[in-house]
Amino acid sequence: MSIEKSKQAEELLQQHNQAHIIKFMNNLNEKERELLENQILSIDFAQMKELYDSTKKTVEIKENKIEEISYFDKQKLGSSKKEQLDELGARIVSSGKYAVVTMAGGQGTRLEHPGPKGTFKLDVYGKGKYLFEILIDNLKEANKKYGVVIPWYIMTSQQNHDETKEFLEKHSYFGYDKNSVILFKQGELPLIDHNGKLLIGKNKLIKLASDGNGGTFTSLRTSGALANMKERGIKWVFIGGVDNVLLKMVDTTLLGLAIEQNVQIASKSIPKASPKEKVGVFCKMNGHPKVIEYSELPEKMAEEISSSGELKYGESHIMCNLFTIEAVEKISKEPLIYHKALKKNAYLDETGKEIIPQDLNAYKFESFIFDAFPFFDDIAILRGKREDDFAPVKNKEGIDSPKTAKELYEKFWKKVEK
Ligand code: UTP
Repeated sequence: MSIEKSKQAEELLQQHNQAHIIKFMNNLNEKERELLENQILSIDFAQMKELYDSTKKTVEIKENKIEEISYFDKQKLGSSKKEQLDELGARIVSSGKYAVVTMAGGQGTRLEHPGPKGTFKLDVYGKGKYLFEILIDNLKEANKKYGVVIPWYIMTSQQNHDETKEFLEKHSYFGYDKNSVILFKQGELPLIDHNGKLLIGKNKLIKLASDGNGGTFTSLRTSGALANMKERGIKWVFIGGVDNVLLKMVDTTLLGLAIEQNVQIASKSIPKASPKEKVGVFCKMNGHPKVIEYSELPEKMAEEISSSGELKYGESHIMCNLFTIEAVEKISKEPLIYHKALKKNAYLDETGKEIIPQDLNAYKFESFIFDAFPFFDDIAILRGKREDDFAPVKNKEGIDSPKTAKELYEKFWKKVEK
């Protein structure tokens, strides 16, 4: 590191209220210092200030015009309409214009599984199945039906990338064509404490964390995965999570509906179980599609009933989304808003001593995939069924846990195989 660069890094820290890092640097050897200084020069301090300022504000929903959103119920489409939509969708899939993205960059903190979430083995049918394996089964079934090999893009994080790759290699991609599996890494942002100070991690660098599943679009573009899709002639991109064991990644009715409605984005929903269920729900905000997080939906609105006698804001977002390739590209160039989450994070103090906090001490900033929706005028929403479409593995125990997912998974397949 040149003296010039060293000076630059120190000045940045001074200017941005991060003098504690200058003190920390004094105890580092030359190599460690150089690595840290390089990292400092790559941080967007103006953005970090903006993010810190945002932690002091509360989300104000009242100023916006919120309306209910319309949806199509898959159960009520009628068989000829459903057939027509399926045919429209199937034409795209069987002509090789359909790709799937799995967002697998999350930390899975609630599940407490030591490793990438996709490597978690769900105890089904005695011998168990890994979450990645369940997704692959789903894709293989579609490949057989439509006579194609659907390209599968997996978003990993900087932390879990190597482990994910090794796991898939070790299991020979569970029989999937290796050339059709493309891994790409998502972006990261620094963590900050209550006073806007950056944290230092055990590796003696500024502590970073994945920037949320909304980062999918930008990461697709910057990693070259989007260009790869274009080369393959992809027109429609499905983006889903890694942890819903009933996720249907190739739903031709959903795809057909998007084509028929002439929209660029589409999403599968399920009806909200109760006004208090902790899920994001669809609405229209200022005329654009939007998902409101449960924590941001006022209680009164959560309980409101529509003219059809259902919850007015009752369509839950289940991370089952479709985009045209143009839509993916468009969003990849738009800045999505960041949501803050206060988490417990160990760090090194100025003297290099590790501090394990008792309380929540650091803000993590994440953008959410559904914050892409307001960039469009419309969305096609297809209401599915909870028992067919949604069995997430989120918590170690209780609701949305391996136990509930196993029950739902086995029940669904018993029904299908009958
Ligand atoms: P969640 O928000 O449920 O997070 O992710 P998580 O990491 O699985 O679990 P917790 O909250 O730490 O317990 C929903 C989907 O988005 C992906 C996850 O892998 C999951 O498929 N995700 C989340 C990412 O790909 N990147 C992120 O930065 C965050």
